[in-house]
Amino acid sequence: MRKKLVAANWKLNGSPEFVDSMMFELAKVKCDTVDCAVFPPFVFIPQVKSALPAGWQLGAQNVSLYEQGAFTGEVAADMVVACGGSLALVGHSERRSLFAETDAEVAKKVAVALKSGMDVVLCVGESLAERNSDETMAVIQRQLEAGFSLVSPEDVSRVCVAYEPVWAIGTGVTATPEQAQEVHHNIRALLRVLQPGAESAVRIIYGGSVKAANVSDLFVMPDIDGALVGGASLDAKEFSAICEAA
Ligand code: G3H
Repeated sequence: MRKKLVAANWKLNGSPEFVDSMMFELAKVKCDTVDCAVFPPFVFIPQVKSALPAGWQLGAQNVSLYEQGAFTGEVAADMVVACGGSLALVGHSERRSLFAETDAEVAKKVAVALKSGMDVVLCVGESLAERNSDETMAVIQRQLEAGFSLVSPEDVSRVCVAYEPVWAIGTGVTATPEQAQEVHHNIRALLRVLQPGAESAVRIIYGGSVKAANVSDLFVMPDIDGALVGGASLDAKEFSAICEAA
């Protein structure tokens, strides 16, 4: 049985005061049977770490392709680990579309993060145009194959896949539980081809306008192993309720 993972992606939001009040609230969440995680902006990682409830994971929203050197503005995976991070979000659609991150770069970032000791949440998902032209699974297959291309067999289960349909991110339009379940089921079939056994070992979480009001219907689906939450994770009550629904 895979334990559910519920992760907060704060994206480009927050302040020291926000971190203090959010961590105070998250400490009250009852989440013994679920893994919970927070992805703050890099600069808040030490502050979140100092107030992280026992059992919670802390992660980075991105890591550099590079391990060290003359790469102004970059943050290395090893630096995140040194500040208490244990999880890296890689290949988010906002990185792919707004910062032109390629499949090859995503593959390298997955490898660098795993090498640093972090586990990875690898994001995949189709745009609305791709869904409307029946390309959903072709796009996801390409992203998955690239994302796992540099992962050794013994590390496959250290990668969690986040299915995030681009058309559902920040739009208020959630994939229906059935739509999400169908894609998660198909992702499991692709994982089986990638490596027999991966289909049961790898967690597949859903992201895209998840909120307290819709999460229970998503979580009853057999192939949905948790949620990657953006907007609703900025509201302590909402995010606590999502964690407690898992
Ligand atoms: O990483 C989180 C996803 O992009 C979902 O964002 O919950 O605001 O739609 P959202």
